[in-house]
Amino acid sequence: MDKPTMFEPYEAAPDIDVVPCYFSIPILGLLPINAFVLKAAEPVLVDTGFALLSDEFLPQLASVIDPEDLRWLWLTHVDPDHTGSLHRLLEAAPNLRVITTFLSLGKLSLFGPLPLDRVYLLNPGQSMGVGDRTLTAVKPPAFDAPETTGFYDPKSGAFFSADSFGALMAEPLEEAAEIGAEDLRDGLITWATVDAPWLHSIDPAKFAKTLNLVHDMAPQIILSSHLPAADGMKDDLLQLLAQVPTADHFVGPDQPMLEGLLRQLAAG
Ligand SMILES: [Fe+2]
Ligand SMILES: [Fe+2]
Repeated sequence: MDKPTMFEPYEAAPDIDVVPCYFSIPILGLLPINAFVLKAAEPVLVDTGFALLSDEFLPQLASVIDPEDLRWLWLTHVDPDHTGSLHRLLEAAPNLRVITTFLSLGKLSLFGPLPLDRVYLLNPGQSMGVGDRTLTAVKPPAFDAPETTGFYDPKSGAFFSADSFGALMAEPLEEAAEIGAEDLRDGLITWATVDAPWLHSIDPAKFAKTLNLVHDMAPQIILSSHLPAADGMKDDLLQLLAQVPTADHFVGPDQPMLEGLLRQLAAG
């Protein structure tokens, strides 16, 4: 896959659709970038894909829900792979309000401020109703931006975990269970060392306590922004993430490697 590509939405649970795209990272592999539609009584979109694919993202989203019907946008954090269609959606969906944190709001004010009457601030541990269920904001165990909040939906049993539990992959799939065990281990641990290198300075015993919070939440399905839907895989994913503090550090290519790659490309 030589350019970012949108894929058809798929159902992760009876009331949850995934709107996926894939982005190929040189040397590392394929990274899924998911948005989600939670079909609550007050429908919630989770994140908005990335800007390069916005022209394709909006029709794919419209194939699972009329954007005008969206009541909430849960913005996990403001990295560019999560905010791509944010402002276009605010225009297209006049009833949409953005659930996010004070830090998200502050960072957005530097490149795309949100109107304050379109915002609903929710901190980890706080809850809010969306008609037929109450969502609780959760700080995921791994993240690359301080504003990150995921959430737990007790009605579907889904934990929307933002960047946490993401994995680099070899090919697009709709279920994390279809990834081979070795590929999932390598892809998840490598992604976590790239996305959250601070995990290397965490005491593994303390990190285990953080992971236990997810264990005790007991989600039936984990919906990461960067992994296909992971149904019934909580224990597997937690066991992999627990290995990250002691895993090899990720070091990107340096200039001699880049020049070698360019020579290879020039030679065809
Ligand atoms: Fe991120
Ligand atoms: Fe991300």
